[in-house]
Amino acid sequence: MAKTKSKTRWACNACGATTNGWFGQCPGCREWNTIQEQTERPAAGERVVLAAPGAKSKPTPVTDAQANAASELRLHTGISEFDRVLGGGLVPGSLVLLGGAPGIGKSTLLLQACAALVGEGKRGRTVLYASGEESVAQVAARAARLRGGEFRVGDERLLLIAETRIESILDHAATQRPDVLVVDSIQTVYSDAQDGLPGNISQIRSVTGHLLSWAKTSNVPVVIVGHVTKDGQLAGPRLLEHMVDAVLSFEGDEERATRMLRASKNRFGSTAELGVFEMTGLGLREIQNPSEAFLADHPEQAIGSAVTASLEGSRPLLLEVQALLGPSPGGYPRRTCVGADPNRLAMLLAVLDRHAELFVVDQDVFVNVAGGLRLNEPAADLAVLLAVASSHLRKPIQAGTVIIGEVGLTGELRRVPRMDERLAEAARLGFTRAIICGRGRKANKPTKPSRAGLELIEVETVVQAVAAAFD
Ligand code: TYD
Ligand code: MG
Repeated sequence: MAKTKSKTRWACNACGATTNGWFGQCPGCREWNTIQEQTERPAAGERVVLAAPGAKSKPTPVTDAQANAASELRLHTGISEFDRVLGGGLVPGSLVLLGGAPGIGKSTLLLQACAALVGEGKRGRTVLYASGEESVAQVAARAARLRGGEFRVGDERLLLIAETRIESILDHAATQRPDVLVVDSIQTVYSDAQDGLPGNISQIRSVTGHLLSWAKTSNVPVVIVGHVTKDGQLAGPRLLEHMVDAVLSFEGDEERATRMLRASKNRFGSTAELGVFEMTGLGLREIQNPSEAFLADHPEQAIGSAVTASLEGSRPLLLEVQALLGPSPGGYPRRTCVGADPNRLAMLLAVLDRHAELFVVDQDVFVNVAGGLRLNEPAADLAVLLAVASSHLRKPIQAGTVIIGEVGLTGELRRVPRMDERLAEAARLGFTRAIICGRGRKANKPTKPSRAGLELIEVETVVQAVAAAFD
């Protein structure tokens, strides 16, 4: 192969911006320490091809049935939590990135999805699994373990290759014509067309470009694994996230076996869905009733604990919010949040102070959402506020109470969407009382026997909510 003259250039690992030399901070995205030297052949720029080779592109009416049909035929992976986060399954020709910290279980999840895809018996899909991290023997041994030690008829449709050269992965894909291609991981794969080590920006761009072109022209879904650095960023460029159709992240808590799958980008579905799994000795187990799992260790009648019902995509999920207050030694009180937004907490503390006359702003405040979850909607405000109030007053919230409401700056409470679903989930898990926002009804004239069998305590202001929770 004729070697053209290489020239040096510098590029940002995060956003892909090119610079003339080394900078401590990227002029493009303002990230620090992301500029790296890239050696690249001048004309090796990747072009992404979105249609079959030779096919002339032509404008198509948006109503064209053929064009629309393609995205309808989703491929179900057989793992329903995975399918739901994808928006109902893998869309043909889509490129999906699965990110997560090393060891979190990405390869395990994909191997299980592959095993489910190839199905049992005669009918099923063919999957090509290219691993750049483990040998074929290692992947096969793990697949066998996930199958309980014994392969079944049909498992031979899961094809493994240990390969890091993208050109040969795609050669195999062209001959085998799989229904799904998995590449584990993007950081280990390189292209001949580029200089530089696997995992650097030009390699990642090139490999992703190859995979994108292949997915679009062959109309086969491609799933790529990407490792995430300690601070939660995808190792490698942000640019990778722009190129793919969906970015899923697999997260988990070190201490627990709970694993959560979320979509941070999805061209074919909602990004609000949450998939919940448990890592066991036999691989990942789907948790279809996550509220039960997250509330399993929930102590009844604990000071500083409040339970809310939050919406995670299409599902309501019960979460426990814990708060702890203590005197602040330094005069500059600390606010530490795990799973909650510190700015939102600061607002709630100010509201408590001004409108409920609970003077908490001089205290150190710690807020934690149990189970490694995150609060992602204002409907959890009131639970955070009452958890803080509980810790401050040293009184527990009455057992069996679920708290749902958004708090406004004037101390008023706001209604939240889809209340019936939240209440139904709380009732299902044995909750008996709900403190919720009820406009225009006499406060402290509590018990309206309920939707979903819960006793409803409708309150309009934080003062009434505090009274209802602790009296
Ligand atoms: P893995 O899927 O290799 O992680 P990743 O691909 O994200 O780097 O998962 C590795 C971890 O999962 C490892 O620490 C062991 C654990 N594990 C189980 O607990 N049970 C199992 O059945 C499997 C296959 C892995
Ligand atoms: Mg792996």
